[in-house]
Amino acid sequence: MKNIKVSLKDNSYKIISGSGVLRKLGARLKKLKIGSDAYIITNSYLKSKFGRILEKSLQDFGFTFCFKLVPDTEKSKSLSQTAKILSDITAYDQKKKIFIVAFGGGVIGDLAGFTASIYRRGTPYIQVPTTLLAQVDSSIGGKTAVDLEQGKNLAGTFYQPRLVLSDIDFLKSLPRRQLVSALAEVIKYAVIKDPGLFIYLEKNMGKIIAKDSGCLEFIVARCAAIKADIVSRDEKEELGLRTILNFGHTLGHAIEAAGSFKTYNHGEAIGLGMLCSCGISRKLGLLSPDDLKRIEVLIRRAGLPKRVKRVDFKKIINAHYHDKKFIGAKNKFVLASGIGRVMIKENIPLELIIEALRERF
Ligand code: GLY
Repeated sequence: MKNIKVSLKDNSYKIISGSGVLRKLGARLKKLKIGSDAYIITNSYLKSKFGRILEKSLQDFGFTFCFKLVPDTEKSKSLSQTAKILSDITAYDQKKKIFIVAFGGGVIGDLAGFTASIYRRGTPYIQVPTTLLAQVDSSIGGKTAVDLEQGKNLAGTFYQPRLVLSDIDFLKSLPRRQLVSALAEVIKYAVIKDPGLFIYLEKNMGKIIAKDSGCLEFIVARCAAIKADIVSRDEKEELGLRTILNFGHTLGHAIEAAGSFKTYNHGEAIGLGMLCSCGISRKLGLLSPDDLKRIEVLIRRAGLPKRVKRVDFKKIINAHYHDKKFIGAKNKFVLASGIGRVMIKENIPLELIIEALRERF
């Protein structure tokens, strides 16, 4: 079991990860003095597969609980779903000391975190992420959001959980495509911060894809530690430190949006975005041909796409203007200058972006 701290003064919390840690949830919550009644937001699959373990762990420590099931699609990240949950919690919350449990992947984590941040101007909540992407990324950091018609994640808050509990056993039943797409974010951490993790991924990619428990435990804890460190130093993205987490995201988001969020899922698009970003780095002379090759090979070995297919080139270029990293007319890219090293550059000429994207078609 690994124990990592996100250090944020009064808002500090721990990330506990390992095989079987769900069984320890009740004991952890007792120590936290978080309340007595758990409002668990999840989906029907997770409830039927792991609900019993969760219930037992809570019951053993005297907690009461109820489950709120939501559909496991991006559509659940909406103001209307938030309103439904708020009205349901209000009915449940009679003479109780409520806390919210986000038991699921990124959609449930964001929805539950956002709801917790506004119910009674802030109700304690914890994250129990069940996908690799949520365990290495979205459950940590306190950004919560729902989507608006006009775009993804447009209504949101910063609201930190009181605990993140990542049980590796959840990952054993993860569909291969979801596992692979999350590996894009894992590779991202290695490229932005950790050459040792990069070498580990090079050596162990086969075992990771085969869901070897030891490897999964290692990468979840390592990525969580990197994110915890960055968030601890720049909680609200005011110092520009969190910006490096957007490596691959400028063009990645554009590819995801241009494919109407259907052709490529988030991780696959981020993998392609990282390749484009590395192409720009190479053209600017920031990244050596050897390092570029190693990144390309690792992305391919993870099973991520290396070419953009079935998405219109012009649509991607148009979509990239809407990226939130655009400040006025200036674009902003996180560029690798080695393995484990990135820099932030503004005003990358459009011709260079077009050239790097063209190479991925
Ligand atoms: N909740 C994800 C983040 O804060 O980055």
